[in-house]
Amino acid sequence: MSSEREVAIITGGAGGIGEAAAHAIASRGARVAVADLRPAAAEEAAVRLKAAGLDVEPVTVDVSNEASVRAMVDTVLGRWGRIDILVNNAGVESSKPFLEIGLEEYERVMRVNTTGVWLCCQAVIPAMLRQGRGCIVNVSSVAGQRGGGLLGTAAYSTSKGALIALTKALAREFAKSGIRVNAISPSLTMTDFVQRQLDRLAPGTLERVIAMTPIGRVGQAAEIAAAIDFLTSPQAAFVAGHVLNVDGGTAM
Ligand SMILES: NC(=O)c1ccc[n+]([C@@H]2O[C@H](COP(=O)([O-])OP(=O)(O)OC[C@H]3O[C@@H](n4cnc5c(N)ncnc54)[C@H](O)[C@@H]3O)[C@@H](O)[C@H]2O)c1
Repeated sequence: MSSEREVAIITGGAGGIGEAAAHAIASRGARVAVADLRPAAAEEAAVRLKAAGLDVEPVTVDVSNEASVRAMVDTVLGRWGRIDILVNNAGVESSKPFLEIGLEEYERVMRVNTTGVWLCCQAVIPAMLRQGRGCIVNVSSVAGQRGGGLLGTAAYSTSKGALIALTKALAREFAKSGIRVNAISPSLTMTDFVQRQLDRLAPGTLERVIAMTPIGRVGQAAEIAAAIDFLTSPQAAFVAGHVLNVDGGTAM
């Protein structure tokens, strides 16, 4: 392994699972770019993480825009000279019934949750190939395996299911080049993302989801981040193309 400090990009790093992952990965000594669509929120997350003594910098990015993704990668390479870890965590939710999801909504969700990951991988992998090492974790969802059933519906499930195929395709293509690609599959985890959906959905939705979860509670962002931390660590050196369920048993 290189003796240089690792550099990580975490998309959607301004809150929730992304901020928790930034905390976990920076805590083991990595430099972390907190990359998010919301500049002020990314700045605030960076202030919180720096207050904990961590080496992080905010970067503004729209993962659904190729030029913006390339600018993010150039910024990080310009600042730190390498990219060892990419966590594709930025995502948007969608919880309408199928027949109410117009093409515009479908394309909005796919553009961020799937195309965004595609664009970030295409922009970062050349740097990882030059280094001869790298590690990517894609944040999928239990919805991508079960077709929804918790909060996300058809567009969300489709976007997250595609990530599982993309994870395996990239793992297969780049494993021999020293790049490991894996995914995590969380179930309901208490973040703003979930709160926004619960605010719109029928009362009792949270209780219904908890009743479907064998462990009998929702997840915490730090629990999802711990799985991301593991998959990006040397302890997972022989793990590739894997989808790690962090879901209280929901997907079984
Ligand atoms: N919270 C859950 O229950 C849950 C369950 C399974 C999977 N996930 C997935 O985990 C990931 C993180 O979710 P969270 O709950 O922390 O959500 P969150 O809404 O708290 O965080 C998502 C972040 O992504 C950012 N973002 C949105 N669109 C973006 C874009 N185009 N470019 C860059 N950044 C963008 C947002 O600004 C936000 O900071 C998402 O991909 C979500 O689908 C969440």
